[in-house]
Formats: sequence, structure tokens, C-alpha cells
Amino acid sequence: MKPILDVDIGGLKLKNPVMVGSGTFGYGDEFKEYVEINRLGAIVTKTITKHRREGTRPPRIYETTGGMLNAIGLQNNGVDDFVQNKLKHYKNLKTKLIVSVGGETNSEYVDVIEQLSSYSEISAFELNISCPNIEYKDKIIACDENLTHQLVREVRRVTVLPLIVKLSPNVSDITLIAKAAQEGGADAISLVNTFLGMAINVKTKRPVLGNITGGLSGPAIKPLALRMVWQVHNRISLPIIGMGGIMNARDALEFIIAGASAVAVGTANFINPETTLEVLNGIEDYLIKHRIKDISELIGSLNVG
Ligand SMILES: Cc1cc2nc3c(=O)[nH]c(=O)nc-3n(C[C@H](O)[C@H](O)[C@H](O)COP(=O)(O)O)c2cc1C
Repeated sequence: MKPILDVDIGGLKLKNPVMVGSGTFGYGDEFKEYVEINRLGAIVTKTITKHRREGTRPPRIYETTGGMLNAIGLQNNGVDDFVQNKLKHYKNLKTKLIVSVGGETNSEYVDVIEQLSSYSEISAFELNISCPNIEYKDKIIACDENLTHQLVREVRRVTVLPLIVKLSPNVSDITLIAKAAQEGGADAISLVNTFLGMAINVKTKRPVLGNITGGLSGPAIKPLALRMVWQVHNRISLPIIGMGGIMNARDALEFIIAGASAVAVGTANFINPETTLEVLNGIEDYLIKHRIKDISELIGSLNVG
């Protein structure tokens, strides 16, 4: 018998727990010819902001041992362009669409979410609060409990759609930020975004990335991300979308056992665009093999005794 794969992410009902990481799957459309998108639990758009953003100075991507550094700088054409040119592609989508939203001020987040909340194509929002923030003098919202709480509270007021808050791993205690997001009114937590890193060209003694620093993703970060998912699962009651270096079903299962109700594949999409489907098939095979009828039995089942 086929196991039950449905999960509920703070009111967002998914037919299975496998999704993509924001920014690693374009707007979904770009991957259509490589992946059966409708088999996924959800797709997450690249982060959208109120205004068009040019992004950071190239080079923006650099491969490292076991991972990659990126500094894209939230390049996108802004919310109006998304509504006019992208939303129509989701009309016949048979999976859930989560729109990732970023901003430079709280009011930018609020405006974008207010504007998008009425479109029936959209099932939930993911707040990307890990981007450098001008209003707060270069502070990252997700690195500060009060800023996180305040932003989530403000956004909560303008939408009834499930609100997922994506946290930054660049903090000493991730559970404090997760708690602030929960108390602000989040329905779910996504973790993790990338780890701040850098690389240097020793010939020129210059940084490899145009932005000097960038975000590290891929297999190199998996043990760190997994530890954070486990810590947050132990501290708060919200469902968690776990990500960070998931390359195969075994990686995804580790996140689920640590406490993630769903998982997102990011960097692996660039290596093998079918990773999500392989992860999904592998999770199903595992459940069958271990006679687990419902994936909910596996979520947070880590045995530390
Ligand atoms: C090239 C690239 C672009 C990304 N862009 C975004 C983005 O726009 N918004 C966001 O919330 N996360 C973004 N991320 C972070 C991923 O969604 C994910 O959280 C992170 O890469 C960890 O997962 P992974 O190791 O599987 O890639 C980006 C990651 C990469 C590699």
C-alpha cells in the first residue's frame, strides 16, 4: 500500500513534503522541461521585492569544496512585473505556489504581500528576512529577535495566507529567532538560508565574488542546517521546512527525522534538475520498506535515548 505523504505546513496542505529552495528554481517555469513540476509538494519562487533590483556586482557564483558561494543580491524585476508577466504561468499549476518576498524596509514587505494576497494562484508566502537591510543600517532582520518579531507582526496583519518565515543561520542561537517569528504570528519556519562566507584569488589577492562575501550552500552546510532544524523543532511548535545541502533522499530523511515537516532542495537543482523527484521517490521507498504508513510518524522521530 502507498504510504501517506501529505503534510500540513501551518495550514498549507501539500500532497508531499518535497519542495524547492527559493532562488534555485527560477519562477518554476524555467525548469518545466526538466522536471514534472506538478509532482512536487510545492514550488517556491525566487525572492520578489517591491522594486526592481539589479543585484550585486559579478562574479556572483563560485564553486567551493562541497558547495557553492553566491551573491546574487535579490536580482528581480519587482512585484508589478511578477503580476503582469509571471503569475499567468501558474494558472494550471497542480502543485502549490509559495511566493518568496524580500524588502529593504518593513513597509516594502507589507506592500508586496498586500498586493499579492488576492491572487488565487498563490497558496502561501515565504518571508526572506535574511537579506541585508538598509533601513536597519546593514543589519539582517533574521539576525535580530526584535526586528524579526516586528516584521512578522506587521505582515501578519495584511494576509490570511500561510506565512512562512525563512531564517538566517548566521546567528549564535537560531531558536531565539524562531521563537520571535512564532510569537510574531508566523505559521511555519523555513531554515536555513545560506551561511555567510568568502573566497580569495591568491594570485590577485582579490575576493573571488564581486560582493566580497556571499552565501554558502550545498552539501558542505548540511550538518549545520540539520542541527539547526533539530534545535528549532525542540524549541517551538511550528512546522519546519528544512533545507541545506539536500542532495538525495537520505539527506531529506535526516531532516524529516530531525523535525522537518517538509524539505526543500536548493543547490542540487543546478547539478541535477531531477533531484527533487529522486528525493520524493526515495522517501516513498523508505516508508514502504520500513512499513511506515504515514510520513507524519517519521517527522521529529529522532531517537536520542
Ligand atoms: C544561487 C542561489 C540563489 C538563492 N536565492 C535565494 C533567494 O532569492 N531567496 C531565498 O530565500 N533564498 C535563496 N537562496 C537560498 C536557498 O533557497 C537555500 O536556502 C540555501 O541555498 C540552502 O539550501 P541548499 O544547500 O540546498 O542550496 C539561494 C541559494 C542559491 C544557491
